[in-house]
Amino acid sequence: MDGKRDDTDHLSSAAPANVVFENLHPAQTESRAELLAGLQRAQKRVDPKYFYDAHGSALFEQITQQPEYYPTRTEKGILDDYAAEIAACCGADCVLIEPGSGNSEKVRLLLDALRPAAYVPVDISSEFLYATAVKLGGEYPWLKIHAVCADFGSPWQEQVQLPVGRRVVFYPGSTIGNMEPSQAQAFLSGLRRWLGRDGGILIGVDLHKSEARLNAAYNDSRGVTAQFNLNILNALNRQADGNFRQDTFSHRAFYNSELKRIEMHLVSNEAQTVAVNGGSVHFRQGETLHTENSYKYSLQHFSALSESAGFALEKSWLDADELFSVHYLTVA
Ligand code: AVJ
Repeated sequence: MDGKRDDTDHLSSAAPANVVFENLHPAQTESRAELLAGLQRAQKRVDPKYFYDAHGSALFEQITQQPEYYPTRTEKGILDDYAAEIAACCGADCVLIEPGSGNSEKVRLLLDALRPAAYVPVDISSEFLYATAVKLGGEYPWLKIHAVCADFGSPWQEQVQLPVGRRVVFYPGSTIGNMEPSQAQAFLSGLRRWLGRDGGILIGVDLHKSEARLNAAYNDSRGVTAQFNLNILNALNRQADGNFRQDTFSHRAFYNSELKRIEMHLVSNEAQTVAVNGGSVHFRQGETLHTENSYKYSLQHFSALSESAGFALEKSWLDADELFSVHYLTVA
């Protein structure tokens, strides 16, 4: 332990009896160096994880309610409709681990059918994680919750004593779409080691569809996605001492059909020099800051990706319009 404290340390004693809260105090010191490195590249970029400060998380929540943004409601529909089949695949008494659990909203659709031995939400935001775990613990008194505050990109698994039982990783929301396919393969393959021979992954993946539908989902008519995209400049201002102005950039999102991904960029409206970290970064007029990729998969592609990572695709569930997919993978 490094002896750092934050507001959640003293709260742990007030948690309900079925909730354990473990805070690994994920370091955020690399963020400045990472942000600056992204701005030095020929194609400037920033990692999409920086979208999710408090305001960005609230904006994402609003995105999920826009009529054009089909993924969230479609995935929830699938989890709800097929909860019994999904539970049968995951098996009784599993330890259900959710990296990037956020508000733990989707897992609620599965808990009654699944009755896991324990639920392990893992998130980087300690206060939000703590509040969510306490609330969930109150609503599901029979459920053992072992919340872990950690950066799931770092090797947190070795640092915690997880409840004993067959492990199932729950990774909804097509979060895997943010990774390059090669990174996605490495991510899945990295899970295999500590899932053991009998573990599994329950994962949500967005599917190929008409370009018009994809483009609309990332260009909602109320402009919420545009606000969400522009808000990432606040992370640069805060964490890298920048003076980016939202009114000098514009939202751009489009489907790249060759690479099968939505790309989001912020386009500089003018030639400008922005102060960052005591230095400066120049943007030509029309030059972009690449903020996100959101890869879309066909069933064949995702199945091939899973196999290349050492998993067998046991079962897939789709909505009637085949917009979104949920898969159960087992260690091959
Ligand atoms: C949370 C990564 C699944 O890619 O659709 C929504 C994020 N970006 N609108 C997605 C997002 C713009 C979302 N994921």
